[in-house]
Amino acid sequence: MSLTQDELKQQVAKAAIEYVKTGIIGVGTGSTANYFIDYLAEVKSKIEGAVASSEATAERLRKHGIEVFDLNNVDGMDIYVDGADEITEHMHMLKGGGGALTREKVVAANAKKFICICDESKYVPVLGKFPLPVEVLPMARSYVARQLSAMGGQPKLRDFTTDNGNIILDVHNLNIPDPIETEKTINQIVGVVTNGLFAKRPADILLLATDEGVKTIT
Ligand code: 5RP
Repeated sequence: MSLTQDELKQQVAKAAIEYVKTGIIGVGTGSTANYFIDYLAEVKSKIEGAVASSEATAERLRKHGIEVFDLNNVDGMDIYVDGADEITEHMHMLKGGGGALTREKVVAANAKKFICICDESKYVPVLGKFPLPVEVLPMARSYVARQLSAMGGQPKLRDFTTDNGNIILDVHNLNIPDPIETEKTINQIVGVVTNGLFAKRPADILLLATDEGVKTIT
């Protein structure tokens, strides 16, 4: 009997709890991360608290009685746990479906290990079937959209404002043969805050939920 995508997300979120030891945990955003937060609540006495990658995550953590720390008051973290929209065998990720890409990247940069939790539908040979989210300063919207079009993508404005007060352009049909290079190129466009490619700093551990159980890929 095959599991639903939701059941797979729950299963992989539970598996990540094994990596929670002590101290402060970096926590991602999205439905898989939400399941992780729910399981984290069961072991909250082991940890000091968490750093959240979005307002939504901070709210869910607090509801469970988990203390949320300002990143500026934290001296690094052992782990950051988050989902992804796509991930390859090289551990390059495409993220930001939930619009929290910038804070996710910032929190992840402060963690020793990035633990990616996904159901197997997210494991892909090449990134880019999922539209690439790019967070942009509102005043730079048209300029950045033109640059992204020149790169061969089709940027579409999302009806959404980020936690940082910016807009998101979702770039469709972008060819991403070299995610590290594309991540760098897009980040160099003036007006871009960050893009959803997490390749320069890939995941360290991938927990992948399948019908046969959770696989660990390193
Ligand atoms: C949010 C993200 C999420 O990790 C990504 O969208 C996956 O979400 P979900 O766990 O709901 O499938 O990057 O910005």
